[in-house]
Amino acid sequence: MSATIVDGRAVAAELRAELATHVTEMTTAGNPPPSLAVVLCGDDPASAIYVRNKGRAAERAGVRFTLHRPPAESTTEELVALVRSLDGDDTVDAILVQLPLPSQIDPDAVASCISPEKDADGFHPYNFGRLAEGHPGVVAPGTPLGCMELLRRSGVTLRGSRAVVVGRSAIVGRPLALMLTNADSTVTICHSRTRDLAAVCHEADILVAAIGRPRMIDASFVKPGAFVIDVGTTPQDGVVVGDVDRDSVEPVAGWLTPVPGGVGPMTIAMLLRNTLALARARRGLPQV
Ligand code: GUN
Repeated sequence: MSATIVDGRAVAAELRAELATHVTEMTTAGNPPPSLAVVLCGDDPASAIYVRNKGRAAERAGVRFTLHRPPAESTTEELVALVRSLDGDDTVDAILVQLPLPSQIDPDAVASCISPEKDADGFHPYNFGRLAEGHPGVVAPGTPLGCMELLRRSGVTLRGSRAVVVGRSAIVGRPLALMLTNADSTVTICHSRTRDLAAVCHEADILVAAIGRPRMIDASFVKPGAFVIDVGTTPQDGVVVGDVDRDSVEPVAGWLTPVPGGVGPMTIAMLLRNTLALARARRGLPQV
């Protein structure tokens, strides 16, 4: 047996095409297109690539994209002033501040200036709280949303399944555990202090690796036939390496999301979906 490799690029392309259709319908009906403002501060080369990809995907989907590039030596106050002005700008539907920010900037002070109604990343405590309460919510973090969409489009039954999420970050592990719980999966969150990690993971029908340790998850962690989602993206020798040891896991798993080409492309598609959802909510239109 060999795992089905889940093609995140193809699913993301399908999703972006669906979103483009919704944007066209919206604008044809006389509404302004959704608009996304992105703040990129600093010289992190990976962030520059992510933001460029977000911009290209947005424009192709008909989403108006504006990039703000405050200098790397900006202060927290300067960034707060910029984000406040975007939050107050009626022509902006959604705001994203690319992380990481330069070390002199307080990321929480900046993030708290984005109102929940313009929170493209779904990171705002209000939106996170709605997710934790089990409400569908308008937006949620893009990477876990992308994982859920890959599961859904692969036809996996979540109700009654056992899921193990390795990694408890606020951006991936915690929100994904909530989404899986809301979908009636029984979820365990593991982390660097978990005892007998391989044995716990081996129970999982759905195993998510989101720890940032290259190739840590090998076949000994994987129940035969499991759906394995690799969220790892560690740059190594000029390539991006996942948390799953693909050569070891592929013969055992039922499905495997590869790195690159698995979850990564989905994150951008879900950011655009969040942007469309926020824009529709701001125009009083029903969600699609
Ligand atoms: N940096 C890496 N991933 C993300 C993300 O999903 N959102 C933001 N704002 N910054 C990031």
